[in-house]
Amino acid sequence: MSPRYPTSNVFYRRLTEEMSTAVRGEGIYLYDQDGNEFIDGSGGALVVNVGHGVAEIANSMANQAHKLAYVNGLHFTNEPVEALAREVAAFTPEGLNHVYFLSSGSAATEAAIKLARQYWCEKGRDQKYRIIARTPGYHGNTLAALSVSGRPSSREIFEPLLQDFSFVPAPMEYRCPTDLSFEEFGDQCASHLEATIEKEGPELVAAFIAEPVIGASAGGVVSPPGYFAKIREICDRHDVLFIVDEVLTGMGRTGKWLAVDREDVAPDILTLGKGLSGGYAPLSALVVRDEIVDTIAQKSGAFSFNQTFSHTPVAAAAGLSTIQYLKDHELVARSAQMGVYFLEQLQTLRSSEIVGDVRGIGLLAGVEYVENRDTKEPFPPEFKIAERIRKAAFEERLILWSTTRYLPSNNGDLSVLGPPFVITKDQVDELVKRLKSAIETIEENL
Ligand SMILES: Cc1ncc(COP(=O)(O)O)c(C=O)c1O
Repeated sequence: MSPRYPTSNVFYRRLTEEMSTAVRGEGIYLYDQDGNEFIDGSGGALVVNVGHGVAEIANSMANQAHKLAYVNGLHFTNEPVEALAREVAAFTPEGLNHVYFLSSGSAATEAAIKLARQYWCEKGRDQKYRIIARTPGYHGNTLAALSVSGRPSSREIFEPLLQDFSFVPAPMEYRCPTDLSFEEFGDQCASHLEATIEKEGPELVAAFIAEPVIGASAGGVVSPPGYFAKIREICDRHDVLFIVDEVLTGMGRTGKWLAVDREDVAPDILTLGKGLSGGYAPLSALVVRDEIVDTIAQKSGAFSFNQTFSHTPVAAAAGLSTIQYLKDHELVARSAQMGVYFLEQLQTLRSSEIVGDVRGIGLLAGVEYVENRDTKEPFPPEFKIAERIRKAAFEERLILWSTTRYLPSNNGDLSVLGPPFVITKDQVDELVKRLKSAIETIEENL
């Protein structure tokens, strides 16, 4: 019998479903207790980049745990943390050379918001506290992170607990107004940011936060060329820090080490998570512009974000080893190359009447389902289309990530895909075949 609520003592994320017990992973595959083999089409939550079961990473974590499992960042630094910070600073934009390690993407967002606030206070501009974010967008589930997440389905019942921050639209090609080119739409969205800063009062605005490619909430949405350069200019003009959230897109997911590498734009604070340790340990990071760290060093002397599990050696060993593996096997270039084939094959899903859009970059893709392809009208949320497709795919032994109600109109259904970078062409074909079959099953039963 599979474990389930209420007989198991685990408080599951989904209480009404039977849970398979995963026992092993290898490459793109996961195996459950009955020996069923699943394709991990979303790398869990867009986490697993190097693949499952990499012995080198497991061994380096075990060796580190034998030598030194834990020290508190207040008392000591440690060798893996020092080495990982050097590695991360080497591939992040120039001028961002200081890395603060944490253990989740949400914590990294919280820390980025608090750091922006602390920086302005220490510069003597303690009126600045407001954050502006984008919709759609997702930066985590803790309260401040959710306060900057433009994703109605995650916010809903928590609204009374959230900070009242402002949102501006993110340019999406699929939902671009028909009378504008995508570039013009990008300009319009960037102008919206400037108008919002001016309306709020630049003296109050501390930072703007954005995903360089929208991940979990919108499935691989790429901005038009020049959009982020305009955002950078606007932030500079108004003394607003620019936070780039690369928790999902970093570490090769979009075919470059970082998604901002395509933009020729450097943020003030950059967050990493998920693929930073390939899923082998809970690990995230803030990568921070020197001037911000120097300001704090010269004033209070400490960033006020104490966490028991910051700067921990075993997680850092996992991160170091993951980066080494990505380099040794040239997996970032592979994500770019295989991503082209992956997106081409996914386009064949358009033969289904309910597939409105297939988008993405590198090995990050979104398949959007709509009720009417001509008007792009989404399904009513109660149809739970993406969720039903996720479940049908599980029956086909394919793991997907599903997103529902991602649009401000409180609807919009997506499957989000992001397999490990080691996926082969044959495996891509098999993944697409299983997804097609899952979509057809739901389409036939509408
Ligand atoms: C862009 C982005 N930022 C932050 C987070 C939050 O990360 P975590 O779930 O590790 O807290 C996520 C999670 O999906 C994300 O996609």
